[in-house]
Amino acid sequence: MLKNLNELKEKILRNISFKPSFAIVLGSGLSGLAEKMKVEYSLSYSEIEGVKTSKIAGHGGKFLFGELNGKKIAVMSGRIHFYEGYDMQTVVSPIILLKLIGVETLFLTNASGGINKDFKSGTLMAITDHISTFSVSPLIGENDDSLGERFPDMSEVYNKELTDKLLEIAEKKNIDLKHGVYLQTTGPNYETKAEIKMFGILGADAVGMSTAQEATVANYLKMKVLGVSCVTNMAAGIIEGSVLNHKEVVENAKKAEKDFTVLVESFIEKYV
Ligand code: HPA
Repeated sequence: MLKNLNELKEKILRNISFKPSFAIVLGSGLSGLAEKMKVEYSLSYSEIEGVKTSKIAGHGGKFLFGELNGKKIAVMSGRIHFYEGYDMQTVVSPIILLKLIGVETLFLTNASGGINKDFKSGTLMAITDHISTFSVSPLIGENDDSLGERFPDMSEVYNKELTDKLLEIAEKKNIDLKHGVYLQTTGPNYETKAEIKMFGILGADAVGMSTAQEATVANYLKMKVLGVSCVTNMAAGIIEGSVLNHKEVVENAKKAEKDFTVLVESFIEKYV
């Protein structure tokens, strides 16, 4: 077992009155939903062996356990990123911890750059599949057979049934939820125009610096995964002359947060 995760599992279960089966990871600029929660207990990621608290603007750094829309859930407010200098095993350790405490369904969210020209800043995209070839697998290293198999199948990482339900909710609520393929880079630099052109040719609709690693490990752990990406900007070179910066990414995520919040809350109300 990696790190002090069993110890933290006991600590969490001692401090909460329920066993969460659903968890959501709130990405860059999307942590507002956490403020609506009746929090029973919170735990900083810095309690995980080897983790310091995330210092990136727009990223929280803790687990929250409590009630949202009448449902008892776990929330990851922010995440650990590979570009902060952690190894991939550390980056995905919160997901393993969620599995250990009983989480079965994982809702991943993030901010991304749009590659698909039908998108614009503020577009929400249900993630139907991912390309993680340009990042590093979190499953490299000795396999813990008690967690999952050495060579996991990856043919349906994002649960189709749940994703269809999310698309249905969006339609009912008049939210323009697109769907597409998310590509993960390691970051922290944004991409060059040539890279974005290549990623588009390869079939990516949006690009970001997270999520695929978590989806990969969650799939390995046999969790049901769904994902939504908030396109905070068009990726490099898609709009001529535009330049990217993180402040704008966080600001645009905030603008899209209203629809995002309605979507997530409705999903939780109906299916958790
Ligand atoms: N590229 C990579 N990651 C991102 C972007 C982007 O354009 N926007 C938000 N996260």
